[in-house]
Amino acid sequence: MSKFKVFLTRRIPQPAIDKLLESNIDLELNEEDRVLTKEEIIKGVKGKDGLICLLTDTIDSEIMDHAGPKLKIIAIYAVGYNNIDIPAANARNIPVTNTPGVLTETTADFAMALLLAIARKIVVSDKFTRDGKFKGWGPLLQLGTDVFEKTIGIIGCGRIGSAVAQRAAKGFQMKVRYFDTKRFPELEEELGMEYCSLKELLRNSDFISLHIPLTDTTKHLIGQKEIAMMKSTAFLINTSRGLIIDEKALVKALAEKQIAGAALDVYEHEPDLTPGLKELDNVVLAAHIASASIETRTKMGMIAVENLLVGLEGKIPPNCINSVIYKKN
Ligand code: DGY
Repeated sequence: MSKFKVFLTRRIPQPAIDKLLESNIDLELNEEDRVLTKEEIIKGVKGKDGLICLLTDTIDSEIMDHAGPKLKIIAIYAVGYNNIDIPAANARNIPVTNTPGVLTETTADFAMALLLAIARKIVVSDKFTRDGKFKGWGPLLQLGTDVFEKTIGIIGCGRIGSAVAQRAAKGFQMKVRYFDTKRFPELEEELGMEYCSLKELLRNSDFISLHIPLTDTTKHLIGQKEIAMMKSTAFLINTSRGLIIDEKALVKALAEKQIAGAALDVYEHEPDLTPGLKELDNVVLAAHIASASIETRTKMGMIAVENLLVGLEGKIPPNCINSVIYKKN
């Protein structure tokens, strides 16, 4: 039997690549550690049975058409899949998979790390110390804000949002409020967590952490109006997708000290930053690394490969995002 041909748009952890090779896959891999252009993806995917892509690759109908009728599966190495044109995949009966679950705890840890870093001025203090400006303990030196027993507002209480809620409630005795399209009575009971409207959450939280997927409805969910509702002492944390925040409005609000600060892992025009953002000292800026632990990135790779292998067999793969519409089996 001839080998399945697969295109992988960028190197992922080696165990996942080894698994592909052990599975008798004819693998074409972008060996350069960079995002491919659309033309390069089109060239790579041509005539392939499967595609493993990243959140940085925009996979639209044109790419799917260039891949041709053999394309049996698109496996994304991420949980977020806003970069894939799902209706286009549905129309072509191509299953699309993601890697949920395995990055929950790692991402939740990172959201808390960002929260602590901005509240307790860790990055500012690190730079100050490295710059040789630390001349000894000072009673008024780099005073931050307590996290313990404060109120956190979680927008989106799915896997990652609820893992952040667990950490906040159990580890930091924080009062947790959340806003979502659905209620989670068991979590409310377990963590003493309160459901509230977006407005109430914005008005009453000391920390606001975003954990929603990017969709047409969540784009710019946090804009000038929403930021204006936040307390002047509040901090905004984003480990979801950059486009959920109107970054221009955020820069203005931070520059004018309308809110106390923000800690961001994702950006509206990633990897570009909105002008003025990096000049601010009330922000912590990370390079979209919330899921970036060796363990988790390896697990994500293994899951993407498992999804792909099942899809290549023409079966509905695990973690199929479009299984409702996809009617192959
Ligand atoms: C995801 O998977 O969607 C994260 O943003 C990166 O791991």
